[in-house]
Amino acid sequence: MTARDQVLDMLIDYLGRPISGEAISRQLGITRQMVWKHIKALRNDMAIESKPNGGYCLPTLPDVMSPAILKRLGVPNIALLDEVDSTNMEAKRRVSDGAGDNFAVVAARQTQGRGRRGRSWVSQPGQGLYLSIAMRPPVDIAQVQKITLLAAVSVCAAIKKWRPDAPLRIKWPNDVLLNGKKICGILCELISDLEGSTWVVMGIGVNLRLPEGGFPEELRGKATTLDTIAPPPIRLQLAADILGYTTDYLDSWRDDFGQVMEAYRQYMPAAGCALRVLPAGQAGYDAAFAGVDDDGGLLLERDGKVERIISGEISIEGMDGYV
Ligand code: BTN
Repeated sequence: MTARDQVLDMLIDYLGRPISGEAISRQLGITRQMVWKHIKALRNDMAIESKPNGGYCLPTLPDVMSPAILKRLGVPNIALLDEVDSTNMEAKRRVSDGAGDNFAVVAARQTQGRGRRGRSWVSQPGQGLYLSIAMRPPVDIAQVQKITLLAAVSVCAAIKKWRPDAPLRIKWPNDVLLNGKKICGILCELISDLEGSTWVVMGIGVNLRLPEGGFPEELRGKATTLDTIAPPPIRLQLAADILGYTTDYLDSWRDDFGQVMEAYRQYMPAAGCALRVLPAGQAGYDAAFAGVDDDGGLLLERDGKVERIISGEISIEGMDGYV
């Protein structure tokens, strides 16, 4: 750990209370002048108050990728990276290299953030949360597609913990919408480790703020950011909460998937609303939303009959830029 991280660590230990430059210098064995230099550098990324008696005080947890914040939040098992090609690719590399236990990766920035259907995911620093959770699924592999629904419910629960009144919807299977526009995308991928066990990598991107220059043309009117309703939570708090809900829902899934589906249905659009179904590589068609069954399949009404689909994408009338 660098001296700068150690200074931050101490400020976080004293969160909301002042600590003197003298005490920091004594504890870390560095000069007062060095303490001041580190405080000055830290101030580029966070607000640190100077108290009249010469103490420094961090009023709230800063939005930086610091292990000290994870320690404070009580979540040790997240790998923090400043920059990576894609947290999903990184998680898959770690699985291939023999990761032992389930783990998570968060990056401040992705250079090749990946979305579904080969799309890219805008991943500028500070603009979003880029999180991948890698796990051995607790259930038979035949059921594993349900995990994407579980991820969407976990994200909704974490956002609701921050803002209980956030107007959230899930667009099947797993896009989370805020005020009818996409706030979060989820990309789940399967990979086998050296011993042949299957892992799931659950990649979650949450839009916190607009990227520099705004969203690209194709996302305008379709995507939104958490800061449109309130100042967003710090990324590691959101990551810790998503991870916590994911763990709880995975535990409940060992018995049955009912608890996840019950939560999922709270966020579904109204029955009967108009949909456009977009199967991969085929022509789209219109239908009406008829629900999601207990196995996570989408039910839709078409020509007076109820059909079930298990893959593909939909647009919902009035949401996600679809009118
Ligand atoms: C989608 O197309 O809706 C899925 C987007 C998933 C983006 C996240 S960001 C973290 C993780 N790493 C990636 O490269 N993609 C996922």
